[in-house]
Amino acid sequence: MNDSERRSKTDGLRYQVRSFGCQMNVYDSERMSELLAAAGHRPAGDGDEVDLIVLNTCHIREKAAEKVYSEVGRIAAAARTREERGRGGTSRPLIAVAGCVAQAEGEEILRRAPAVDLVIGPQTYHRLADHLDRLLHARDRGERLRLVDTAFPAEDKFTQLPSRPTRVPLSAFLTVQEGCDKFCSFCVVPYTRGAEVSRPVSAVVEEAHRLVEAGAVEITLIGQNVNAYHGQAADGRQVTLAELIQLLAEIPALHRIRYTTSHPRDMSADLIAAHGAIPKLMPYLHLPIQSGSDRILKAMNRRHRAQDYLRIIEQLRNARPDIAISGDFIVGFPGETEEDFAATLALVRAVGYAQAYSFKYSPRPGTPAAEADNQVPEPVKAERLARLQALLAECQETFNQASIGRKVEVLLDRKGRHPGQWLGRTPHNQAIHVDLGTEPPFADERGGLVKVEIVKAGPHSVAGRPLLQTRDSRAA
Ligand code: SAH
Ligand code: SF4
Ligand code: F3S
Repeated sequence: MNDSERRSKTDGLRYQVRSFGCQMNVYDSERMSELLAAAGHRPAGDGDEVDLIVLNTCHIREKAAEKVYSEVGRIAAAARTREERGRGGTSRPLIAVAGCVAQAEGEEILRRAPAVDLVIGPQTYHRLADHLDRLLHARDRGERLRLVDTAFPAEDKFTQLPSRPTRVPLSAFLTVQEGCDKFCSFCVVPYTRGAEVSRPVSAVVEEAHRLVEAGAVEITLIGQNVNAYHGQAADGRQVTLAELIQLLAEIPALHRIRYTTSHPRDMSADLIAAHGAIPKLMPYLHLPIQSGSDRILKAMNRRHRAQDYLRIIEQLRNARPDIAISGDFIVGFPGETEEDFAATLALVRAVGYAQAYSFKYSPRPGTPAAEADNQVPEPVKAERLARLQALLAECQETFNQASIGRKVEVLLDRKGRHPGQWLGRTPHNQAIHVDLGTEPPFADERGGLVKVEIVKAGPHSVAGRPLLQTRDSRAA
């Protein structure tokens, strides 16, 4: 019996869960980690030999699958090197590929990556510990088992997961909705995450309470189409995202609520109004449009026009004048002309984004746009991306400059590089650093909420000066 096998018998496996994707991918990684801990395994510390590596993968762009195969290759090579250094037996860690590449590639991963033991999809990871047990039992019998579980099971995985731990970060994620029925012609998410499903209201509220008890002062509600949320209440009624936010705002020790990612088509009047009516709802919205050209929006199957989006932004600003708008853009979608791209630049100028993400179109296997014969050449995509990013950077800096002099409460949750410096986010989701000196005004070593005046602005962040009135992160 080698070291790893001995450990797995006595005090469980030492595991590592690595996240490669979106916020939901990060949330899923946390839940997998919690589930492994509840099953008697424990997180590997720095310098520990790792017995189980879970790669939680993302399939959204570029050679996602290739990256997974090379990462698996690296892990397997490192294990071989350790063996050759004479540790005896095999100290190869178990390797699980989870997430959206697992869902998309399934069995193919076992074929192409001999070192992988388990392939597990985003809708079945609640069975992770059970699958591991089967792998370990087989290993005890001297056999090697390899498993694939990428079903879309009828049961709700959330009801099978252990409850949240007793200590969480000050800013926590909470999945309220998952999957997508929109089928934008470029996107893999409807295939990897499955159909749109909302968690019941009671499950969300219960998890929020639990997170707040464990120290969270900010919760970001997440979903692939979070504003399509329509969870069932105990009386059978369907509750909208706006109503859900109102319910959560009633938790006294929860100070800040955010939600992401929204689709323009689901930006309902009550949600827009919530931005004006619920002070705990932060003045920030990530609302991707992808392109400013109606022709391209149509080809993308977004099913709205640029002017519909601009009208939503106007209504949001009527409800909450200082709201910061963020977005996602794709350049070089099949058939995109210079004129289409100019429409995107014009829309960016019209909105005045506080921040945004932009990507070159990446053909994804199995999506309609990947089959189109009018693909845009790579150098054209690169050139448009550079122009768009220069404009977005300008917008972001303008937004940051305009916030100088604002007095806001910020959530500081990380220590900075310099002594006494703390890092965090403003209500408008700007990265901020604040010098708190030797005695930070909060008892919690994780950080807390502090009133500051924004005194300096750069392209990517702002600096704040603490104001006298501060409060402890846990005070209501
Ligand atoms: N559900 C969200 C976005 C999920 S994917 C929405 O509808 O807005 C996150 C972002 O990745 C997208 O907004 C899009 O900008 C980008 N993206 C998705 N598929 C892509 C592809 N094939 N190529 C390039 N970017 C893509
Ligand atoms: Fe993908 Fe479109 Fe669904 Fe967003 S709305 S996840 S971009 S298919
Ligand atoms: Fe990536 Fe899956 Fe999220 S493809 S963006 S990890 S939903």
